[in-house]
Amino acid sequence: MKGVVLAGGLGSRLYPLTKITNKHLLPVFDKPMIFYPIQCLVNAGITEIMVVTGGNYAGHFLQLLRNGSDFGLRRLGYAYQEGEGGIADALKLAEEFADGDSICVVLGDNIIEGNIKKAADEFAAQGGGAKIMLKEVHDPERFGVASVAGDGKVTSIVEKPKEPESNLAVIGIYMYDAEVFNICRELKPSDRGELEITDVNNEYLRRGNLTCEVLNGWWTDAGTFESLYRSSTLVREAGANRMDI
Ligand code: G1P
Repeated sequence: MKGVVLAGGLGSRLYPLTKITNKHLLPVFDKPMIFYPIQCLVNAGITEIMVVTGGNYAGHFLQLLRNGSDFGLRRLGYAYQEGEGGIADALKLAEEFADGDSICVVLGDNIIEGNIKKAADEFAAQGGGAKIMLKEVHDPERFGVASVAGDGKVTSIVEKPKEPESNLAVIGIYMYDAEVFNICRELKPSDRGELEITDVNNEYLRRGNLTCEVLNGWWTDAGTFESLYRSSTLVREAGANRMDI
């Protein structure tokens, strides 16, 4: 399995911080934000990663990450997303890099305490389809929200519902087989004018090959002032127990 880190966008919710660099390079406690999703993939055993970025500061990634050898990567690729087409639009740029392999996609502002190795191994054993990761949250209306039946199967996913049916957020870590690129090609823009990753996941759900797992340990995004602040606090407090970066 290969890794894809989506690190585009203008980060407008974090102006003026993001007027001078890309959101995913801002500090989260003692590291640039993008270190955490990269290390998450490395911890899952992935050695080939593509960073998809955009906006005005794409060059900053190269200065920081260079060829990825600091993370022990065999291959680090970069792609540039024009415009603001959404997560599923950015993902399209990884098709040639994936070259028929399955991929683990991590949103560049998502940070977890634990490890997704077990979920990645289970996904490999499921033989295709997709796997999403879920986490209980107090503010599900900010996220994609999944409903899960008694047998542990996802029954629906709704993007930012006004009245969430559950408190299970779909976090920004997704595992897909190569079919994901065909699905992305068929998507129509949502009301916010973007190709939604939730629509990708719902297509796998419709096809009956979507599995899910509830994440152990904390998870946070870092795309707002509050969540950016919280992510630094969580990483700092994890202290000696946190993943070794
Ligand atoms: C995106 C996804 C959403 C997911 C979230 C996780 O939201 O659309 O389904 O729950 O990431 O961080 P966005 O950050 O684009 O608002």
